[in-house]
Amino acid sequence: AFDERLCVTCSAPTNIATIKYWGKASAELNTPINSSVSVTLHQDDLKAITTVAASRSFSKDRLWLNGKEEDVESNKRLTTVIKLVRALAGDKVDAKTGEVLVYKADWPQYHVHIASRNTFPTAAGLASSAAGYACLTFALAQLFAACETYDGELTAIARQGSGSACRSLYGGFVRWQKGERADAADSIAVQVADEAHWPELRALIFVASAAKKGTSSTSGMGTSVATSELLRHRAAALVEPRLAAIEAAYLARDFAGFGRATMVDSNQFHATCLDTYPPIFYMNDVSRALVQAVHAFNAHHGAIRAAYTFDAGPNAVVYTTASDVAQLLAVMSRAFPVPRGAPACSDAALAAEAAAE
Ligand code: PMV
Repeated sequence: AFDERLCVTCSAPTNIATIKYWGKASAELNTPINSSVSVTLHQDDLKAITTVAASRSFSKDRLWLNGKEEDVESNKRLTTVIKLVRALAGDKVDAKTGEVLVYKADWPQYHVHIASRNTFPTAAGLASSAAGYACLTFALAQLFAACETYDGELTAIARQGSGSACRSLYGGFVRWQKGERADAADSIAVQVADEAHWPELRALIFVASAAKKGTSSTSGMGTSVATSELLRHRAAALVEPRLAAIEAAYLARDFAGFGRATMVDSNQFHATCLDTYPPIFYMNDVSRALVQAVHAFNAHHGAIRAAYTFDAGPNAVVYTTASDVAQLLAVMSRAFPVPRGAPACSDAALAAEAAAE
């Protein structure tokens, strides 16, 4: 028999880094060679929604992703996350009646079923694993009545599903500190400023291509770490001062400082991709045209009022402030007209406005 009280549904937002994570220090522990920082996008159509249920009658752990069953056993990251959250399990108590539903000692008799879906326009190809693993970690923690043994432990678990996922457990502006410890317990996410800190900040998403990305982040990072001298220099000397600068700018709501560091870091990340051998190309001609359009917009205003950033794909996230959204969209839709009758997610089309609010 299935007990509905052992069923939890959570949602988690995605996040877009302004100082990028690129390169693993340890593939085993999924730790980064540099710290990173991101904005969490609190928008209903950029979320993962995950339901987890536990029962003694389930014969094994199972997962359905966007309605399709995936194999759990062969997915090392997934099994690691489930195992680590399970290890923190406590007594599961019914919040209404106070009845103990599962004693801590009995959890080994239970298996979980997981159903997760993304609300993203699938064409946008935006970091779905970040929202997905943040959501899974949090939902399992609720289900198992898990208790952290130190602050940030759940983010360290989410990190082992997908690096960038650790940052999605907090809203606002979030740093993933690379950590120093050999066991990586301090490679966790820390909130720099919460979601209420900068209500005027906006993130606009521009879809330059609906195609799936060619090189996965894990394989791209591996080749970059092995071959790019620029990446080595970036991690050793350039990221730390840039992180300090962008965090200060964010805390001061200084858009020009925030925007400049964001663009410089995105450009440098893609430069390390070009410096990788063989080179990796994530941006395309439309992406580069968008870069120029943003610089033209800023030049017109004589100030940085919009700032692009690109992840491991050609689509842009452009940060700006509420008062500039309408004008920026007008300029962009002139520069990148959507063909008449084309679906909103066609190449070069403006797909969605995600307010970072
Ligand atoms: O967390 P992953 O393995 O999906 O890698 C994310 C890499 C970037 O999105 C390019 C940068 C970042 O910090 O999110």
